[in-house]
Amino acid sequence: MHDAPILFFDSGVGGLSVVAPTQALLPHAPIVYAADSAGFPYGIKSEAEIAARVPALLGRLVERYRPRLVVIACNTASTIALPAVRAALDVAVVGTVPAIKPAAALTRSRVIGVLGTEATVRQAYVDDLAARFAGDCTVLRHGSAELVRLAEAKLAGAAPDPARIAAVLDGLFGQPGGAAIDVIVNACTHFPLVEAELARAAPGVRFVDGGPGIARRIAALTQGQAWPARPVHRAVFTRLGDAERDLAPALAGYGIEAVEAL
Ligand code: DGL
Repeated sequence: MHDAPILFFDSGVGGLSVVAPTQALLPHAPIVYAADSAGFPYGIKSEAEIAARVPALLGRLVERYRPRLVVIACNTASTIALPAVRAALDVAVVGTVPAIKPAAALTRSRVIGVLGTEATVRQAYVDDLAARFAGDCTVLRHGSAELVRLAEAKLAGAAPDPARIAAVLDGLFGQPGGAAIDVIVNACTHFPLVEAELARAAPGVRFVDGGPGIARRIAALTQGQAWPARPVHRAVFTRLGDAERDLAPALAGYGIEAVEAL
């Protein structure tokens, strides 16, 4: 059991923004980083496609890697498929939800931006979070598939074009009332990977994401469990081609040296 990994799942490299705070708390946790590169990107898929794909894939991954815990490090998959995944697996599952609650605690202007994928920002789940935790705030949303691509490209070595980053942010700031946004929720796990670029394009705005909260949840759920002295980390892709191999240096930055295909 002490070798059993924590399995992180995303469509691409976004889940690494959840791996980093987890490694800070649990440096000996073996990690399997699973990316559904054959299904990438999720944000422009229908609810039905995601609901059909994610539980089945996680079933295969759990069978292969026997993790102690599964982390859906993807807002799109979590907001659409979390109950179905929990029903399908006999292992604990932690999901990722837009960090609207911490954003509501930080905002002074009471105007919050939620930046996610198109699929995430249209979920009723987001309405529910806004009503429960930010009832006295204006919550503006914008979905961007381009920012997901820019984050993937950055990890493959291509610096994002600042003009494109600014154009994505204009999807929030350009909305009626958007100029007053002082906190932006990175409601896609890819976006903290380009947070430095986002922050440069939006001086004075604070960015929040679910990564640190998920890491604390993982630490609580595994409290008291044994870990190996020298953990081995691996990445698994549903499609392993040149684009995925280009990510090897970025993965190595997280101690993930072994890369394989599902
Ligand atoms: N990283 C994912 C999320 O948190 C989705 C990116 C995509 O495949 O569109 O929503």
